[in-house]
Amino acid sequence: MAAKTGILVIGASGQIGTELVMGLRSRYGTENVVASDLKTASTEVLESGPFEQLDVLDRERLHQIVVHYNIGQVYLLAALLSATAEQKVMPAWNLNMYGLFYVLEMAKEGIVDKIYWPSSIAVFGPNTPKLNTPQSTIAEPTTVYGISKLAGERWCEYYFNRYGVDVRSLRYPGLIGYKSNPGGGTTDYAVDIFHKAVSAQPFECFLSENTRLPMMYMPDAIRATIGIMEVESEKVKIRSSYNISGFDFTPVELADEIKKHISDFQITYNPDFRQAIADSWPSSLDDSRAREDWGWKNDYSLEMMTADMLSHLTTTVS
Ligand code: NAD
Ligand code: SER
Repeated sequence: MAAKTGILVIGASGQIGTELVMGLRSRYGTENVVASDLKTASTEVLESGPFEQLDVLDRERLHQIVVHYNIGQVYLLAALLSATAEQKVMPAWNLNMYGLFYVLEMAKEGIVDKIYWPSSIAVFGPNTPKLNTPQSTIAEPTTVYGISKLAGERWCEYYFNRYGVDVRSLRYPGLIGYKSNPGGGTTDYAVDIFHKAVSAQPFECFLSENTRLPMMYMPDAIRATIGIMEVESEKVKIRSSYNISGFDFTPVELADEIKKHISDFQITYNPDFRQAIADSWPSSLDDSRAREDWGWKNDYSLEMMTADMLSHLTTTVS
């Protein structure tokens, strides 16, 4: 039987998918990477290779696409994020869990070979050690999003142990990029702030000034994602999900960094319901297992990310 060379990205029109599809296409060839989502994709994604409209909960259509494109690897990104999930509890649970089950089942049945599924810092909760949060520690999430991610991690490990499913996962921190807007998370402020700054507008932050969260620049996240999928199976020793870390900051520290480039930038603080979510999450992460097991290392610091974000967004605005 011919090797399954196709790669399917589900949730390809979101913040990560928009960049991951382009990263995968430049590595594996445009025709081999199929983007799919409920909604249409960016012009760059649409014009550079195949796109299929897909509701991941439509199991029959998912199966048809996988067979039609000879898919071997699935990157499952479709989910409702932390803030949106608190407003849509049951839809979030259904999407975040059943999307994963359908893909895990396809791998169990041998229809696809390998799965990537992202977890999140949201698996941790208020009783977790906040500083340099270890890989294995208390995980008692208090959000529907965090509960779904923790359950997803357990199911990934279960399918690996029981059925040999080759599933790989990272616990992303908050991700920051300039190519697409974030989709309803608690860390979204760290992207929104840049759009206001380059438009010479003041920014009202929905988190308080000293809320410290782990974050990562998108190029590092894309490299980590493709990296864990390419490494030999034996090196992936954790089959629930790996902590990965970039840097951490508070809103006031990010604003101060932006002010080094745009001196009259103004920020005010008006915390809303997302403050409680952020308060339940770690401030920084220990990602030593990812470094030891498969060689993860971030490139970007807060300073480098800020300069790069501003230079790209300034070009877009002017
Ligand atoms: P996003 O909200 O920007 O994108 C999700 C995409 O999924 C959207 O384009 C949406 O249209 C699509 N989608 C929703 N329901 C669907 C369905 N039924 N079928 C098919 N597609 C559907 O999210 P993102 O930031 O790109 O996150 C991708 C994944 O990474 C999620 O699993 C998220 O939990 C995880 N993650 C993201 C971050 C972050 O900071 N962005 C951090 C930790 C984990
Ligand atoms: N960035 C994500 C969120 O805020 C974390 O998973 O929901």
